[in-house]
Amino acid sequence: MWHMIKKGVNGLMAQPLGAFGIMTKDASYWLSRAWQLKKRGAWKEAEQACRKALALDETLPEAWRDLAGIMRGMHRNGEAVDCYERFLALKPDSAWGWFQLGTMQKKQGNQDAARHAWQTYLDYDPQDRRGAGLQLHDLSESGQGWGSSTAYLQRTYSALAEGYDRGVTKEHYHGHRMILDKVAELMPDSTIECVLDLGCGTGMLGQGLKARFPFLKLDGVDISADMLAEADKKNKYDRLECGDMARWLEQAGGYDLIIAGASLIHLSDLVPTLTAANRALNPGGQLVFTLFSNDRPGVRMKRQVFLHHPDVVRDAVSAAGLVLHSMEERLHERHSTYFYMALLIHLQQK
Ligand SMILES: C[S@@+](CC[C@H](N)C(=O)[O-])C[C@H]1O[C@@H](n2cnc3c(N)ncnc32)[C@H](O)[C@@H]1O
Repeated sequence: MWHMIKKGVNGLMAQPLGAFGIMTKDASYWLSRAWQLKKRGAWKEAEQACRKALALDETLPEAWRDLAGIMRGMHRNGEAVDCYERFLALKPDSAWGWFQLGTMQKKQGNQDAARHAWQTYLDYDPQDRRGAGLQLHDLSESGQGWGSSTAYLQRTYSALAEGYDRGVTKEHYHGHRMILDKVAELMPDSTIECVLDLGCGTGMLGQGLKARFPFLKLDGVDISADMLAEADKKNKYDRLECGDMARWLEQAGGYDLIIAGASLIHLSDLVPTLTAANRALNPGGQLVFTLFSNDRPGVRMKRQVFLHHPDVVRDAVSAAGLVLHSMEERLHERHSTYFYMALLIHLQQK
C-alpha cells in the first residue's frame, strides 16, 4: 500500500506542471517562440518574445544573438550593435559574432569600430572564411594586404556551385558570349591550339569554347573544388586543376591563349596574376578576359567583388609586360536591382 501511495505521489510529481494548467514558460520557450515569429516576419512580436527570454535570463548569449538579428531585420542597426556587443561580452570567442558586429558598425558609419571588430574576427578565424579581409580592404586607404582569402572564395563558391549554371542562364548574362566572340575573332589569323581557362568555375566557358572549336586542347584551373566538380561533369576539359590561379600559373606553361571569365574580379591587384600569365604563354600568346568596370578612378568593391577603372588595367598590363590590344566596355549582366558593366580585355605578349 505504502509503495502504491509513494508511486502515486512520485507519478504526480513527474507530471509537467502544464498538465495542471500552470505553464512554466522558461527562457528557451520564449526563444523558440521568437524564432518562429521571426520566421513568419512578425518582427515586433518576435522582439517581445526575445525580451521575455532576456527578462528571465539575461546571461543567455543566444537571446542577445537572436535579438540582434531581430533588430537587424527591423533596421534598428544601433540596437543591433548593442545586442551583438552584449552577445560578445558573454561569448567573446565567437568569430561569427565579431563578423556581424563589424557589419553593423560599418552600417552605422563607425569605421574604426568596424575595423576593430573584423580584425578581432580574424584572430578567431585566421583563414577568414567570411571575408573580413575583403571588408578591411574596403575600409583601408591602400587596401594593401587585404582581399579575398582562399577559404572565403571556397566557402562562397561551394555554396554557389550547384545552382551556378542555372543562375547564369536565367539572368541577363553576357559574360561568356563576349569572350567566345572575341576568341572567334582571333582564331582565323592564329595558330591557337592550347588554351587555359583561368578560374574556369563550372566550365560553362569551356563548354562554349569546345562547341565552337572542338579541336582545341583545353585546361582549367579553379580555387573551388566544388565548382571544378561541376566542370568535370561536362567532360570538356583535358585537365582540371584545383589551386590559386597566380600560384598555379607560376609552374604552368605552353599556352597559346588564356581566357578568364569574371574570375579576375576577385583580385584587387591584377599585376601578380597577369605577370604569371605572361610567363605561362607561348611566344606571341594571347589573353582574353573580363573584369567589372569602375567608372571612378582606381579600384573599388561592389558586392564582394572588385571593379577596376580602365586606367588601373592599363597600368597593370604594362607592369606585367604585356601589350593591350583592346579594351571594350559592355553590359556584363543585369539583375533585378543591380547590374555590372564589363571590360572585355584582349592582351598579347610583347
Ligand atoms: C564568377 S565565377 C566565373 C566562373 C567561370 N569563369 C565562368 O565564366 O563561368 C569566378 C570563378 O573564379 C574562381 N576564382 C576566384 N579566385 C580565384 C583564384 N585566386 N584562383 C583560382 N580560381 C579563382 C572562383 O572559384 C569561381 O569559380
